[in-house]
Amino acid sequence: PFVPLRRITPSELATHGARKNETKTYWTVLEGKVYDMTPYLPYHPGGEKELLRVAGKDGTKLFNLTHPWVNWDNMLRGCEVGILVSENEMLK
Ligand code: HEM
Repeated sequence: PFVPLRRITPSELATHGARKNETKTYWTVLEGKVYDMTPYLPYHPGGEKELLRVAGKDGTKLFNLTHPWVNWDNMLRGCEVGILVSENEMLK
């Protein structure tokens, strides 16, 4: 059956940030896709701290500044939570 992607707003994304996070899971956005980075944190060659800089927000710019050659789409397969939509889009 067709399973639509879960839609996530910037405010929900923000509840998975580095601070004041009761969920204890850390999400980021790459090219409009929302990922749960939590299982990947211990494996990041650049360290957990760098990943947490983009927790709860869009990581696309910083990611591409640091290592545009890394294939995140492949690496984070299975960690996708849904797609980012604006608060307005969510009301439609
Ligand atoms: C290195 C993955 C996000 C900072 C790496 C490498 C991979 C990787 C595979 C090794 C690359 C290589 O040696 O060619 C990821 C994934 C990310 C992510 C999947 C998103 C979820 C970030 C972010 C930063 C960052 C947001 C923030 C600045 C670094 C740094 C290194 C690195 C500094 C170099 C580590 C070293 O060689 O000493 N990352 N990264 N990464 N990453 Fe990330």
